[in-house]
Amino acid sequence: MEKLKALIKGEIGRNIILMQSVDSTNRVAMELGDKGAPHGTTVIAETQTKGRGRLGRTWISPPGDNIYMSAILRPALKPEDATLLTILAAVACVKAIRDATGIEVKIKWPNDLMVSDRKLGGILAEIKSCSENIAYAVIGIGINISTELKDFPPDVRAIATSIYEETARRVACEAALEPSLLRPLLISGILNEIDSWYGILAATGREPLMDEWRRFTSTLKRPVMVKTGEETFTGVAEDIDECGLLIIRLPSGSLKKINAGDVTIIK
Ligand code: BTN
Repeated sequence: MEKLKALIKGEIGRNIILMQSVDSTNRVAMELGDKGAPHGTTVIAETQTKGRGRLGRTWISPPGDNIYMSAILRPALKPEDATLLTILAAVACVKAIRDATGIEVKIKWPNDLMVSDRKLGGILAEIKSCSENIAYAVIGIGINISTELKDFPPDVRAIATSIYEETARRVACEAALEPSLLRPLLISGILNEIDSWYGILAATGREPLMDEWRRFTSTLKRPVMVKTGEETFTGVAEDIDECGLLIIRLPSGSLKKINAGDVTIIK
């Protein structure tokens, strides 16, 4: 903990709450948000019994040296800008993981941290609104560091990966091969990146963040199949808009925006 604290540079992560086992760090952080916890408060757990994924899914959260953490932000944004926070967190994670391990992580819209076609981590942003504004947001981040593929349930094993799996195969990075050393490095790296992108967003607007996201995504300019709650359709992922929504060009040539759903890249 002292080691981690020493690596934190900004406001995000200055107040860290470390827990052994929780149902979900996002749930705990939302509760703290309701009680007025300050901007930057971050909940970190060793394991979760009911880790929350996007679209009501479960995030498998075994103990070990993985990352399960949730940061409380109090941004001056509207509820319709919530996806922007996922975009910000994704950029922060990719930069921190690349810096610490050299792994070429990419972002699959909106929240998947991918290595090749496997999922290394995910982001779940939840917000609490107050009249027209976001009262607080919780940015939940899960990253598989030490879990071996054989220890994931079979359905997850087919689509997941971990830093251990990736580095054991192809990265010559001393720290990356020792998960307990890597974890504080990655947690602080991610929180520091969130802090600095949060500052850039407030000072210079959205474009620099969007450009960085475009640099690291694997989704744009690719043919995709999109499944939302209501429909399934295909098209080409053109861009993201200023709120982080994905813009799809349909076969008819018209454009359609989506704010939630599963996007599969068609090969
Ligand atoms: C997804 O890809 O579906 C999002 C996964 C987000 C998982 C993290 S783990 C820490 C935080 N607490 C939760 O309950 N979920 C997020």
